[in-house]
Amino acid sequence: MSTAAAHTATAAPLTHEPLARVFAQYPLEVLRGEGVWLVTRDGRRVLDLYGGHAVAALGYGHPAWTKAVNEQMRHLNFQSNAVPLDVRTRAARKLIAFSGLPVKSVFFVNSGAEANENALKMAFTLNPGRTEVIALEQSFHGRTAAAGALTWGAAKKWYGFPRTPFDVTFIPRRDTAALARITEKTAAVIVEPIQGVGGAFDLGREYLTALRQRCDETGAVLVFDEVQCGFGRCGEPFAAKLYGVLPDLITAAKALGNGYPVGALLMMEKAAAAVKLDALGTTFGGGPVAAAAIEACIDAILAEDLLANVRRVTKYIRDTCIVGPVTGYQGEGFLTGLITRVPASQVQKALMEQDILTGTSGDPHVLRLLPPFTLKEAEVDLLAAALKRLG
Ligand SMILES: Cc1ncc(COP(=O)(O)O)c(C=O)c1O
Repeated sequence: MSTAAAHTATAAPLTHEPLARVFAQYPLEVLRGEGVWLVTRDGRRVLDLYGGHAVAALGYGHPAWTKAVNEQMRHLNFQSNAVPLDVRTRAARKLIAFSGLPVKSVFFVNSGAEANENALKMAFTLNPGRTEVIALEQSFHGRTAAAGALTWGAAKKWYGFPRTPFDVTFIPRRDTAALARITEKTAAVIVEPIQGVGGAFDLGREYLTALRQRCDETGAVLVFDEVQCGFGRCGEPFAAKLYGVLPDLITAAKALGNGYPVGALLMMEKAAAAVKLDALGTTFGGGPVAAAAIEACIDAILAEDLLANVRRVTKYIRDTCIVGPVTGYQGEGFLTGLITRVPASQVQKALMEQDILTGTSGDPHVLRLLPPFTLKEAEVDLLAAALKRLG
């Protein structure tokens, strides 16, 4: 047993008392991770099909990513955006090339919500005088003032602010008739092309094409929130690429840093041209370690052909996991929703008892899978077998 393992095995169990009680906790005390596996204090090996809310793109302990981040830490742990850094420029160049889209520039931030806040600010800059943003029912865009205002159900559950920073209209998903609600008053429309919290619900090419067209007719800025579905998770670099529909702005976070906190705002031509000195800002965004984490993540995805892996293993999940309580699937790639005939929370609990970690969603009959991009067929076999045992 290593010194670290000996120490942690004898340490008193954590009570988590100093932490604000805002998160319901999974019943597992994780000590470390290896690939797609979590190792718990009581010695269990748990198959992680949830990836820490879609973050662990390369799983745990990925050698090249860990080395790159460690080396950057040793080399230069921080310098602000006021100082030009090779690693930051390289990360931006690589992200643009990786996207396969006509992205003109990138603004790095720290989280998904922060990326969305900045996207909205840019939209209002591009559309001065307009006061409304349109979002979709069942959406999730983050917890901050603007992002939370656009999150379905937040006003009733947790929004907290006395008013939203702009007028918000929610329209139903995949309803092309409702696109008429987008008008010359609309500054921006924000959608997750594949909704995450909403239940791994894909909006589809037809709807997104109609949405793009309506935004063009009215001048509304189209924002794709790809914080959960993007950066490879859907089996393509971004859902914009998967569906062949180009927004004006894309926001990314989560998998982008493989656990190092990062976010990014990807700007197409119109938005990039409107950026002015001092219009946007951040202290930590695009710091050298964050940039190294992004760069190493892209390098690993390309070197290991992980997008092809996501596509192949997604098909395998669809072919083998519609068993037991699962009656179908929705979503794309490693943002898959397994449709369950009993409540998904019940299936999640029963899988946890078989050492498989999955997620639920806003849809009570959708079990959400957000595994690392490195997941293989043999691990999917374990899920299929566990589901079969549930009958
Ligand atoms: C689609 C989407 N947008 C934005 C966010 C907010 O990201 P963050 O928690 O990094 O602020 C999330 C987080 O779950 C998300 O799923």
